[in-house]
Amino acid sequence: MLLNASGCLDALTAPEVARQLDGFVTKTITPLPREGNAPPRIAETAHGMLNAIGLANPGRERFLSQTLPRLVSALDIPIWVSIGGFSAADYAETCAAIHGRDDVAAVEVNLSCPNVDEAADSAAEIVAACRAATTLPLYAKLSAAHADVAEVARAVTAAGADGLSLINTLRGVALDPRTLAPVLARGSGGLSGPSLKPVALHAVRACHAATGLPIVGMGGVQTGQDALELIACGARHVALGTVLFADPDAPARVRAELAAAAVAVGVAEPDDAYGFASKPEKRLDRGQKALA
Ligand SMILES: Cc1cc2nc3c(=O)[nH]c(=O)nc-3n(C[C@H](O)[C@H](O)[C@H](O)COP(=O)(O)O)c2cc1C
Repeated sequence: MLLNASGCLDALTAPEVARQLDGFVTKTITPLPREGNAPPRIAETAHGMLNAIGLANPGRERFLSQTLPRLVSALDIPIWVSIGGFSAADYAETCAAIHGRDDVAAVEVNLSCPNVDEAADSAAEIVAACRAATTLPLYAKLSAAHADVAEVARAVTAAGADGLSLINTLRGVALDPRTLAPVLARGSGGLSGPSLKPVALHAVRACHAATGLPIVGMGGVQTGQDALELIACGARHVALGTVLFADPDAPARVRAELAAAAVAVGVAEPDDAYGFASKPEKRLDRGQKALA
């Protein structure tokens, strides 16, 4: 399944882009409206994009009463709602408000925004509170900034997560070369784009081995080959993030490239390469097929 990465596609402004996906993930919503951080909030670097949006969103009530119904009527694909907050209770209340809605396919629990200052409760505590509030599928979105992301993955699995979304941005700084002042008003921001790919591959592979849960892999996907590599590391689904800002045709392009990339390595379907990066015997079979 091909998704967008949260915060990287405004489906109401560009529904034709969203409709190319198999599911749409909303921008993270918080209990109360947030204006986000002061501008500048985006910086281009030679190594990727830095953003410090700070979870700007209309807040839970307006999202559920206005934005979500508009998304449902504009799109004909499942909608995943990304939720954020600053305590386990914040997250649980949002899950309770969403619970039972047939227009929400899954909840992505954003446990990893690098652009807000408030400390959140522990990832496992938040997931446990969400689990108690809803039976909707819960995907825990983790940061790769932990020393051992697989340990966090195990903890959220034990707390009741149904899946994992990996990875969020990593904190970085860009300086104005003339003044040596940070470009972003906030100082630091989240790095996204191609430079994240090796980090994402590691996180997906380690968390796949640690939990076996379905994983939405993301981080630096530009091409179908990138998507195939995430699947080989253990991603069941792939999400497109920063690439959507530069290429609105990316969903259709990546989908076509992914099918071709699978055939090029000797498997019929991309999903047939699932977990290959951890299965030497499978790699061998496939290599023989590719050579045949
Ligand atoms: C401008 C921007 C806004 C983002 N907003 C969110 C967000 O609201 N919630 C979230 O979980 N991730 C957010 N992300 C992170 C992405 O969902 C994704 O995890 C990250 O960008 C890595 O994927 P990429 O390298 O393909 O962009 C945002 C990323 C960008 C670039």
